[in-house]
Amino acid sequence: MQRKFITVEGCEGVGKSTQLRLLKDYFEEHGIDAVFTREPGGTPVAERIRAILLDKKLQVSPEVEAALFACARMEHINNLILPSLKQGKVVVCDRYIDSSLAYQGVARNLGIDNVYEINAYARDNCMPELTIFIDMDPANSWRKKNGTVILNDRMEGESQEFHAACYRGYKEMAKREPERIISIVPDEEKYETHRAIIATLKDKGII
Ligand code: TMP
Repeated sequence: MQRKFITVEGCEGVGKSTQLRLLKDYFEEHGIDAVFTREPGGTPVAERIRAILLDKKLQVSPEVEAALFACARMEHINNLILPSLKQGKVVVCDRYIDSSLAYQGVARNLGIDNVYEINAYARDNCMPELTIFIDMDPANSWRKKNGTVILNDRMEGESQEFHAACYRGYKEMAKREPERIISIVPDEEKYETHRAIIATLKDKGII
């Protein structure tokens, strides 16, 4: 049986959460047995690591930040992702290794290859069959267009240049791994984007 691990990636405020909600509704309506999860997080230990990583009051060096994201990921892989895949479920994860490659590898300047090494466990044991990249420059995000810029956490509160670098990181990853990473340019009409995502999942034999 084909393993069905899907990740959804993109910059802040580009409508990723809306698309994940629509996807979850679609899976429920069509009786597809799926687990929706997120990173950092997904298990009690990983959620604790998330709280550290997103705490605005804490200063964390880029190296430690990358290592903590990788630790949270290892925990998530072993205790939720792989067990669910073994049960034949589809696993849909909101952010995964490409977030580390874009945010820590490019925006924090650690280098994509170095961050791949830090994530060797995920790289060797649990790579997604498909990654949907919501391809929108954060400078044009829906959230900005709607006039509300919410700086909730330590990562979101980073500079515009930081988020622009994350976007460049994603574009670089999409170029490096075109088989795995499918870029979808979102439409203002959210159902158009949703239909494009469903078409991609069908095309890749996930559903
Ligand atoms: P979110 O779940 O609200 O998107 O917040 C997670 C934040 O953490 C987001 O700004 C992206 C960032 N992040 C990384 O920098 N590296 C990672 O590996 C992951 C999973 C997330």
